[in-house]
Amino acid sequence: MGFQGQHIISIGDFSPADIRQLLHLAHRFSQQPQPDLFAGKLMATLFFEPSTRTRLSFEAAMQKCGGRVIGFSEASMTSTKKGESLADTIRMVEQYADVIVLRHPRDGSARLASEVSSIPVINGGDGANQHPSQTFLDLFTIDTLFPGRLETHQDKPLVVAFAGDLRYGRTVHSLLAALSHFPVKILCCAPRGLEMPEHHIQLARKAGVEICDIPDLATAVREADILYMTRLQEERFPDPIEFDHVKSTYRLTARLLRDAQPSLRILHPLPRINEIDRDVDSTPHAYYFPQAGTGIPVRQALLALVLGKELSHG
Ligand code: CP
Repeated sequence: MGFQGQHIISIGDFSPADIRQLLHLAHRFSQQPQPDLFAGKLMATLFFEPSTRTRLSFEAAMQKCGGRVIGFSEASMTSTKKGESLADTIRMVEQYADVIVLRHPRDGSARLASEVSSIPVINGGDGANQHPSQTFLDLFTIDTLFPGRLETHQDKPLVVAFAGDLRYGRTVHSLLAALSHFPVKILCCAPRGLEMPEHHIQLARKAGVEICDIPDLATAVREADILYMTRLQEERFPDPIEFDHVKSTYRLTARLLRDAQPSLRILHPLPRINEIDRDVDSTPHAYYFPQAGTGIPVRQALLALVLGKELSHG
């Protein structure tokens, strides 16, 4: 669908060509600073749910290119507390800013915001649904680690194992949809009750992706090129007893990594809680902190595209 002036709501709205365009531009941002590109532009970050990486990396991305930022990270200090609707909040903020980044606990809230907004809305995560800018960041990381493997024609599929809470983790839903454009094999490793929802699996299969369940992390470690870990989304569990039952059932340790291929890389959208032991951080497989760092060039690329800003050559 292209990017300029568009809302960024679901990764499913973007073609492989769109994804490649975004990744190409992000690579350029990572190599060539653009200190004045967003001069005169104002981004509003409306975060109705906690965030460290998404909000700060969007804000850093804007400010490093000369743009400015308004917004909030604590909705209880806004007029939402007095009962103002999300739609009315968006109708106000569009008077002030050029682009909105929204995080909200309700599935579908970003789509709703886009329907009333005349300026681009970027979904910074809506409930358990989608987190498209994280997906672009994840794809950029994979493309950097395994150059050329995210081409549409490859003989050998890249093996990506998703592990942890695949039911409520929105990042894995978005990433599975995006990876379905490319030659990948997907392994799913989840505690009972937290499996990948069936409709996401069916969509991937329809796109021609081989996707299967595996029983444990040890199998994922042996077979994968990329092990994408996720935390248990405690805040989305309807029943705290269910959460207590499954917590700590999946824990990656350096010991478990002894059987890994040397090229295995571990990704995680972060925050990490207990699912990756601290002793994994110093192994050559750990890549989740550099992954978070790619949030800056990827979000700069996304902002440049939706704002219609061309990079200078130099
Ligand atoms: N990855 C991610 O969305 O992190 P935050 O919740 O800190 O933004």
